[in-house]
Amino acid sequence: MKTPKEEIEELRRQIREHDYNYYVLAQPVISDYEYDRLMRRLMELEAQYPEYYDPNSPTVRVGSDITNEFEQVEHRYPMLSLQNTYSTNEVTDFFNRVKRTLNEDFEIVCELKFDGVSISLIYENRQLIRAVTRGDGIRGDDVTTNVRTIRSIPLVLYGDHVPFSIEARGEIIMPWKVFEELNKEREAQEEPLFANPRNAAAGTIKLQDSREVARRKLESFIYYLLGDELPSDSHFENLNHARKWGFRVSEEIKKCRTLEEIFEYITYWDKERQNLPFAIDGVVLKVDSLTQQQRLGATSKFPRWAIAYKFNPERALTRLLSVTFQVGRTGAVTPVANLEPVLLSGTLVKRASLYNEDMINALDLHIGDRVYVEKGGEIIPKITGVDKDARTGEGEKVQFIKYCPECGTPLIRDEDEAIYYCPNIEGCPAQIKGRIQHFVSRKAMDIDMGPETIELLYSKGLIKDAADLYNLKFEDLVNLERWGEKSAKNLLQSIEKSKSVPYPRVLYALGIRYVGETVAQKLAQAFPSIDALEQASMEDLMTVDGIGERIAQSVKDYFANPVFCDFVQRLRSHGLQFSLNQENLKRQSDKLKGKTFVISGTFRLHSRDEYKSLIVQNGGKVGSSVSKNTDYILAGENMGPAKLEKANRLGIKIITEEEFLKMIE
Ligand code: IVH
Repeated sequence: MKTPKEEIEELRRQIREHDYNYYVLAQPVISDYEYDRLMRRLMELEAQYPEYYDPNSPTVRVGSDITNEFEQVEHRYPMLSLQNTYSTNEVTDFFNRVKRTLNEDFEIVCELKFDGVSISLIYENRQLIRAVTRGDGIRGDDVTTNVRTIRSIPLVLYGDHVPFSIEARGEIIMPWKVFEELNKEREAQEEPLFANPRNAAAGTIKLQDSREVARRKLESFIYYLLGDELPSDSHFENLNHARKWGFRVSEEIKKCRTLEEIFEYITYWDKERQNLPFAIDGVVLKVDSLTQQQRLGATSKFPRWAIAYKFNPERALTRLLSVTFQVGRTGAVTPVANLEPVLLSGTLVKRASLYNEDMINALDLHIGDRVYVEKGGEIIPKITGVDKDARTGEGEKVQFIKYCPECGTPLIRDEDEAIYYCPNIEGCPAQIKGRIQHFVSRKAMDIDMGPETIELLYSKGLIKDAADLYNLKFEDLVNLERWGEKSAKNLLQSIEKSKSVPYPRVLYALGIRYVGETVAQKLAQAFPSIDALEQASMEDLMTVDGIGERIAQSVKDYFANPVFCDFVQRLRSHGLQFSLNQENLKRQSDKLKGKTFVISGTFRLHSRDEYKSLIVQNGGKVGSSVSKNTDYILAGENMGPAKLEKANRLGIKIITEEEFLKMIE
């Protein structure tokens, strides 16, 4: 019989091996079902025996709802960037300079230039201890909690010749497929789209909720090792070792001796990149020998032993057929170009984004124009130029519309944002349907209904806004075309269930402009009921961390509008949650009166937001930075060294989660 400790260790070992097979070698040896079974068993045991907690257990891959805080950390070795070029002549210059300086044989390693965000991973005694972004090259953000969810990054290294202390540099990327799905989801929720996979990866790695990071399925490649005890003097060999230790290293690295071989690699990948599942924006050339790298040295910005050759963006020429104007839930009107279909980076492009009126005017667009489209990563590509010589003079100049295409109301232009809005909030069908779609979406009320159902119910006059959903009856639904008892029941059940969705999500569901998920959370914490929020002044609103004038004004505008007040009133009458859970509000005392706390690090027993509420509910205050007015620091794991140093200097008491909970017991 194994002891629980032995079983936990064995499961961790097995899961690590399967992660490696799946994410690094892309050769899984067990089914997903089997894998999930191992993972569930490990989670069970870890919950039962918290004494065997390990920050690098594979179970951390799923993330947690503990709010991240990113401490700034200094890099052990500065993170330099690379000299970039688009010119083959400069590649030749680089090669000849290296040859002249070294005056001996050398080899160049050619690699793909991954288009993501760079990351520095610190391992000690085989364990991942820290992951830091590039930042300004000298100091970056500690994003360890998020990085631990990326399955191709090993949490523990195994195999031979692993140095005690090692730093691996690499790139965190978001594959095209994941990026496109994420943007589709965001489009449905009218959240701003990410421009390209690089921005999406950068945004994701800085998220506060590591569970969301885990859901977004980031990947990684390692392209450089640093440390005093590297196994080889060859960069190429070191990468091969790294692969054996558990890192994902691209198979497409190649050692070259001549310029011809280098250009062959460049030409091959400029074309072949279309077929990769992730974005690359060029190739990187590095001198292989570490000794030679040292001899070549670095400028203050770049190493002299490497260069990045960047590809030109891919573009295609096609014809502009027409321009459609779409109205979103906030009334904003966006122009979209309809194009003669053309193949670009492996996908057939039919539409392109035109952003706003200024963009249309800058391009001087006419219907029938031959236009250049570039993908550059956007979910819908953009038009970057017009071939004016090909113009026949027949096509009409594209004009921004003056009236809403959905309801005919004259549009208003918001000068700050160069955007046109339809002001008919109450009557414009596009806005009404858009708001309902947002209301039912997964992160809001999570009511199981698609755009077709909304369209159907709206066109039949069964719903005029989202509050009407709560009046729907079985008889209304069961006789609809293609509906049956089962679908009617399911929808009613899903609507009923939404009544228990907590207040912050209800607040998000209202669709107040600029109030996204995070802002809704913050507002709900600061104003624990809708009445409190409605009564808050601009000043009250702006005292909340992260709420500026734009958001505060938008909240005030919302409650000043009788249409929305009536809407909220009707939702209330149906019993939706319009205040924070009574449980949370009840437990109040004066035990922490006059005391200011700063919260730092990551926590096990409660989330950071819960600790904030507990402090406030017991009469204390929460400060954002350590100062002489701070009484206590509530410290979790990974408290930043800068804060620790300051706290010690000012003689501020540092308490653990357990000590804090005792204080308010
Ligand atoms: S080597 C000192 N190799 O490109 C050498 N960088 O423009 C440091 N990148 O910040 C970088 N793929 O984020 C290297 N195979 C590769 C790379 C790569 C992508 C990124 C990296 C770096 C940027 C420089």
